Amino acid sequence: MTRGLFITFEGGEGAGKSTQIAMLATTLRASGYEVVVTREPGGSPGAEAIRHVVLSGAAEPFGPEMEAVLFAAARADHIDRTIRPAHARGAIVLSDRFVDSSRVYQGVTGGLDHSFMETLERATVEDMMPDLTLILDIDPEEGMRRAGARRGASEADRFEKEGLSLHRRRRKAFLEIAKAEPKRCKVIDASRPAEKIAAEIANAVEAVIERKGLRAAEKVD
Ligand code: TYD
Repeated sequence: MTRGLFITFEGGEGAGKSTQIAMLATTLRASGYEVVVTREPGGSPGAEAIRHVVLSGAAEPFGPEMEAVLFAAARADHIDRTIRPAHARGAIVLSDRFVDSSRVYQGVTGGLDHSFMETLERATVEDMMPDLTLILDIDPEEGMRRAGARRGASEADRFEKEGLSLHRRRRKAFLEIAKAEPKRCKVIDASRPAEKIAAEIANAVEAVIERKGLRAAEKVD
């Protein structure tokens, strides 16, 4: 069966994920690969509907379990409708956030029970764990500054509004995931200029393409 690649980007607010995803997509497309750029929460019609509910803060009063279940429901739809079909036809899927965001935001800083989160993850992700997860690491103070500058006058979302100490705990949690799963995860120093970061990411992706043996036949001419 023809299989593509599934690459996720994780990290705190303002780490530059979307800039890096756009740069990587351009590079890969220039090499002839089909690239699908997507994001969480969202990436499919059902998941986009849930995105509004979680990011507006409408689900916040019902507690972190409710939010975790909503993120998982959105993810299940995203996988079924977008990620798995693209992967099955040999595309390279780039997702702005995925399950590690749930582990960190709901599991660690939401204080949810580990086995609850594990069960939710297993039921949702099944075989679609990423081939590569790039964790864009930045000092939260700098990240918040960048996110604020990018947002301009528009209002911060439910998670951007939270305090610096929470963002520090999330940074640590992402780094711990990378340490626990070194084969899947690569930490990228996101404080550097975008071109430097893009070059390091392109190298890491090239290595996975080779390791997985994504063949020329799977390229789009
Ligand atoms: P978004 O505006 O997409 O931004 P960014 O990735 O640039 O921060 O916001 C998504 C927010 O949702 C972000 O604060 C992280 C949070 N989130 C979770 O709490 N759990 C999840 O499982 C996912 C995917 C995101």
